[in-house]
Amino acid sequence: MSRPDAAQRVPLERLISSRSRSIDASGIRKVFDLAVNLKDPINLSIGQPDFPVPEVMREAAANAVRENRSGYSVTQGISELHAAIWKHLEKDVGWKGPTQDLGNIVTSGTSGGLLLSLMAVLDAGDEFIAPDPYFVMYPQIAKMIGAQCTLCDTYPDFRMTAERVEPLITPRTKAVLVNSPSNPCGTVMSGAEMRDLVDLCERRGVLLISDEIYDEFCFPDARENGCCPSPARYTDQCLLIRGFGKTYGCTGWRLGYAAGPMALVQEMAKLQQYSFVCAPTPLQWGVIPAFDCDLSPAIAEYARRRDMVVKAFEGVAEVARPGGAFYAFVQVPKRLGLTATQFVEKAIERRVLVIPGKVFSERDTHFRLSFATNPAKLEEGLGILRALMSA
Ligand SMILES: Cc1ncc(COP(=O)(O)O)c(C=O)c1O
Repeated sequence: MSRPDAAQRVPLERLISSRSRSIDASGIRKVFDLAVNLKDPINLSIGQPDFPVPEVMREAAANAVRENRSGYSVTQGISELHAAIWKHLEKDVGWKGPTQDLGNIVTSGTSGGLLLSLMAVLDAGDEFIAPDPYFVMYPQIAKMIGAQCTLCDTYPDFRMTAERVEPLITPRTKAVLVNSPSNPCGTVMSGAEMRDLVDLCERRGVLLISDEIYDEFCFPDARENGCCPSPARYTDQCLLIRGFGKTYGCTGWRLGYAAGPMALVQEMAKLQQYSFVCAPTPLQWGVIPAFDCDLSPAIAEYARRRDMVVKAFEGVAEVARPGGAFYAFVQVPKRLGLTATQFVEKAIERRVLVIPGKVFSERDTHFRLSFATNPAKLEEGLGILRALMSA
């Protein structure tokens, strides 16, 4: 058979699914396109820690590679890592596992856990509630699985309270997704707020999914009883999704875990078996020593930078004081008459890279600033942003 010439070929674009077409990846890309020719940029847009992976973890991962422990692992993850996770969960939130009712799965990053959990729970047309501002992936996962992501407007204090969530629950709502400490705001829920959310979800028969990727980055002034408020402290009927990437500076290792009701975890394992298969095996070995690493110097440093950020905008712009993570969500002063996107374009002209709120929200009034960067650059960037706001 002769090959069709170029004019006869079916254009590949015609084959793209409406699911894929519905996903718009342009938000952050536009910012990076604008920044591509910048000389010596001050990059306050990056969402990953700026310190090296602890030596013990690198050594453990390297040993696993050297010793050729590089094959598939069982879908749910190696038992040695499970043991380390359960030891940590017991200390952190009082969960003892595994039991018949409580299970755990090692996932390909927190993203893997989020995708599998929502796939396990939601049918096409079902709904879950997520905060606005949100982590960029939440509404996009809804599109991938044909579900609806209902946004809970949390402006101006960015707290996803039970009071704000309750009116959004419909007969199709199956899950509420909470993220504390949050991306992009750094908001940390209080224990009382989390408890109310747990009570609401239990009362209405909705699953509470807690994205706790920044759980360790909870600043001392936001911690309650030595622990970042997790719903797991109040119930074992929620799903925890956690990650190693942000906590230990190894975002590229793609490792996280989910823990919660066994029935749900087993469904996630089934889905993982036919998609991700397993999380990267040598790196599962690499994160076993993670829980013994002392993160307090890094957390203290981020708290110090948080204070620098809050101070820099004092009297110039509104910024809800972040209680954790390494982001601040700063409001563009109204008197400038600019959308956040327009303000960010001006900031980029002055070499400062931040992300407009529209990427994370229905609104375009704020921008996200990451303080996971070296303090000298941060100081310089803050000075430029402040000057732009004062102009
Ligand atoms: C709130 C939140 N959840 C999940 C993720 C995804 O993390 P991972 O790299 O572990 O997949 C991120 C990454 O930025 C995040 O900010």
